[in-house]
Amino acid sequence: MKRVFIIVLDSLGIGEEPDTALFKDHDCNTLKRISASEKFRFSSMKKMGVGNIDGVDYLEKEKKPLGAVARLQERSMGKDTTIGHWEIAGVVSPSPLPTYPDGFPEEIIKEFEKQTGRGVLCNKPYSGTQVIADYGEEHIKTGKPIVYTSADSVFQIAAHNDVVPLQKLYEYCRIARKILVGKHAVGRVIARPFTGEPGNFTRTADRHDFSVPPPKGTLLDALKADGKTVYAVGKINDIFAGRGVTEHVMTHGNTEGMAVALEALDKEFEGLCFINLVDFDMLYGHRQDVSGYAAAFAEFDFWLPSFTAKMKPDDVLIITADHGCDPGDSHTDHSREYVPMIMYGKNIKPVNLGTRYGFCDIAATVAEYLDCNYRGDGKSFLDDVLKPTETEKKLCEAAYSAMEKSYSPYSGYKVGAALLCSDGKIYTGCNIENAAFSPTVCAERTAVFKAVSEGERDFLMLSVCGGKDGKIRGVFPPCGVCRQVLSEFCGPDMQILLMKSKSTFERTRLSELLPCSFSLK
Ligand code: THU
Repeated sequence: MKRVFIIVLDSLGIGEEPDTALFKDHDCNTLKRISASEKFRFSSMKKMGVGNIDGVDYLEKEKKPLGAVARLQERSMGKDTTIGHWEIAGVVSPSPLPTYPDGFPEEIIKEFEKQTGRGVLCNKPYSGTQVIADYGEEHIKTGKPIVYTSADSVFQIAAHNDVVPLQKLYEYCRIARKILVGKHAVGRVIARPFTGEPGNFTRTADRHDFSVPPPKGTLLDALKADGKTVYAVGKINDIFAGRGVTEHVMTHGNTEGMAVALEALDKEFEGLCFINLVDFDMLYGHRQDVSGYAAAFAEFDFWLPSFTAKMKPDDVLIITADHGCDPGDSHTDHSREYVPMIMYGKNIKPVNLGTRYGFCDIAATVAEYLDCNYRGDGKSFLDDVLKPTETEKKLCEAAYSAMEKSYSPYSGYKVGAALLCSDGKIYTGCNIENAAFSPTVCAERTAVFKAVSEGERDFLMLSVCGGKDGKIRGVFPPCGVCRQVLSEFCGPDMQILLMKSKSTFERTRLSELLPCSFSLK
């Protein structure tokens, strides 16, 4: 039973992207900033290989890291939580969610007033506690709800419980949610109920968020459609407006989020557990608390081994982030930054994937690992990180033995191939040369022809190795003719193992070797 756990360290960016200036940010690097604090600890993250990630040259490298690592650049034109998480789940957003520094336009407010039958107060960016102090009394007198926003993409409605009963306030939010679509599709409409007397108003715990659903199908939708579990922890359910989620639990803060993540390891399921740890961003990033942020990171670092120790053999952990929020830069807002990607599990090889373009590569990779039919954005890096399976090892051994049988007195190049059929049988082949040179047949074709002539038509995998005098000096990819022959019988996704030694290989696909095969169809 395969399970993937994605843990988002909310706002843990790792440095400026090439387009950071476009987002009015400079000199931002969340991880670097907190690493200078004396509260910073990173012993388990160091072992994972965080210091090996591109650009993280301010942290010590690990000689033998436990995880596969990458630096991911954001493709979406935004730096908020929603867009960051959507991209992790395979949806790239070409534009940021709308914000309203001058308040909402007349057409929105008019429509809202028409549908609620009440006017509105404020309609400006405002602090949530200040707005009820300044407008609360007028609200009680007139019955008009208080509409305000912030630097984020939010439409907030504050109302006193005695003036607008809670359910009515939620109904107003649903009205606003339906109006705020298209270019006005704000990230969240938020109900902000309050109680008390003028001069002494307090907000109640009945805040409720009405999120905008992702504009396209996500990894979560694809997993759910395939009958897999999608367990959302923390604000994940909200970020996806509940779409694609099969189970969810709200958590309050990192400590609880980590406890729930540990409990999730005890659950029996096949699919994804998607966890957001919000404190980094909410409590420390926005509040520019460098040492608080560093201490929260140290807490996570200390907790991590308790999680990895409980992981089952087929479990995969991915640690990443959704954007930056450098607590030491010039503003309290998010920062446009690269994010880390650390992937760990018994099946995962500790490779360094360098820098990749798109958080969405995570979605494509997770989908492939979980054998899910996914058509969203991103390119899977699973082939680069998966440890050899028993089948792959067997197929490489078979190709290597076949190579030793090569008949190559003219070139001296020995080549071996092994072809796995869907019925589990393996057909091997070697190159067979000829004094007239051109009748020479390559190892791959020998294997294919042997198999086809035995009635096989359905192939799963091919391994190839070769080299002068039978010494493998690097990969020995199939020639063009062999690629074309393979394309006659094998689908574009067929896996090909290009062996680098008797037991190591690179994975590729037929579609990568021959993207545009000849066909009469
Ligand atoms: N060869 C193969 O067996 N497979 C290929 O895909 C490329 C080439 C063999 C043919 C010949 O015997 C030798 O390698 C040198 O070209």
